Amino acid sequence: MTIPDVRAYPEAATPTVPGVPAAPAVPAAQSSPPRGRGGFDPETARRDIPVLHRTVNGHSLVWLDNGATTQKPRQVIEALGAYYSAANSNIHRGAHTMAREATETYEAGRQAVADLLGAGTPDSIVFTRGTTEAINLVAQSWGRANIGPGDEILVPVLEHHSDIVPWQMLAKEKRARLVPVPLLPDGSIDQEAFAHLLSFRTQLVAISHASNVLGTVPPVREMTALAHRYGARVLIDGAQAVAHFPVDVQELDADFYVFSGHKLFAPTGIGALYAKPEVLAGMAPWQGGGNMIDQVDFAGSTYAPVPHRLEAGTGHISGVAGLLAAIDWLTGFDRNAVAAYENGLLAYAEQALSALPGLRILGSAPGKIAVLTFTLAGHDPVEIAHWLDRDGIAVRAGHHCAQPSLRHYGVESAARASLALYNTAEEVDQLVASLRRLQEEPPGARAARQP
Ligand code: ALA
Repeated sequence: MTIPDVRAYPEAATPTVPGVPAAPAVPAAQSSPPRGRGGFDPETARRDIPVLHRTVNGHSLVWLDNGATTQKPRQVIEALGAYYSAANSNIHRGAHTMAREATETYEAGRQAVADLLGAGTPDSIVFTRGTTEAINLVAQSWGRANIGPGDEILVPVLEHHSDIVPWQMLAKEKRARLVPVPLLPDGSIDQEAFAHLLSFRTQLVAISHASNVLGTVPPVREMTALAHRYGARVLIDGAQAVAHFPVDVQELDADFYVFSGHKLFAPTGIGALYAKPEVLAGMAPWQGGGNMIDQVDFAGSTYAPVPHRLEAGTGHISGVAGLLAAIDWLTGFDRNAVAAYENGLLAYAEQALSALPGLRILGSAPGKIAVLTFTLAGHDPVEIAHWLDRDGIAVRAGHHCAQPSLRHYGVESAARASLALYNTAEEVDQLVASLRRLQEEPPGARAARQP
């Protein structure tokens, strides 16, 4: 069977949308020698990403909000245009050419996700809207069947709200207990406490593969092995991990692994759940509708095999086409070299930011990803973000959907610069220089600036 490649369809004309600025011209490929660390040159990624070449408030954009979402390579943008220009059809239903082609693209996307995660079989991949929906799917399908009164769900304090709230809701419904696993001062998970909290009451451990606020990369393989000794299942939230380093779910022995496409250079609204085949096989539908059934009768219905049983309704087909292109784009780089480059950039940024008086970085666990969440004495995080935006620098400010992580450091709000493979040392310098100007602003000018 030939898998149609939407990337090969004729390129769609660039649409003009009222009120939306035209895509910026991307500089031609440069022949200058690589200047990246670890053998990876960020320019090779930058030149693929149109939006990085726009200006914001009169300055070249410095996108340091990758933890919230990543920017999209033209290969992804073109895959979306090509899909709608030449290949749009519903899937798994039609007996016509385009239905078959769209189905093949969708299933090629499933195979690409399986390959990205080292999943072994595409049948272990369920498409979802993203990480949040994938976690809710597990909570409602697997959780409702396997968690009961008195059971415990262990969740480290550094989790994103999407890896806390669904478990809290499930625990309440089932009269189970949600047990927080404490952190050490550097933002790593207290492994001694984790070992003590595990028991035969533990049914599930839900852990981030990388924290969106502290950058911590917990020892998930070791934690999973320990949890398995008690018969618990382990869900790993890879939302902040997949763009930064290679993942192998079989090597991790994860029972569930979830991620979002939009943090992996793909469109919003598409993500995936991996579940071990034997676990997935036992999971009941969580939503009913078309696409997930075998036979429907008013006397009762039977369901399709997994993964389709868990994908009711029409999926985000163009999103999968975009995800396929994004995976293709990312895996075209040497992933270990990318990880080494990002580590070097993190070290550079940590050193440069630490030189600013009054700046405090939250999270210093060894091996963290390039996430720099910080406070700056005398300045509210939202004010910091607005100030940086005047210089074209995008960072996130607030609670980052991880309030327990911030409270571990005694704060309710912080600013966050989160880096990706296309960020550069020059951009870090611009961040630091802008923060320095903020600190040096005369009190009168500051008062006049504030609304
Ligand atoms: N979870 C995303 C973030 O960390 C939205 O910003």
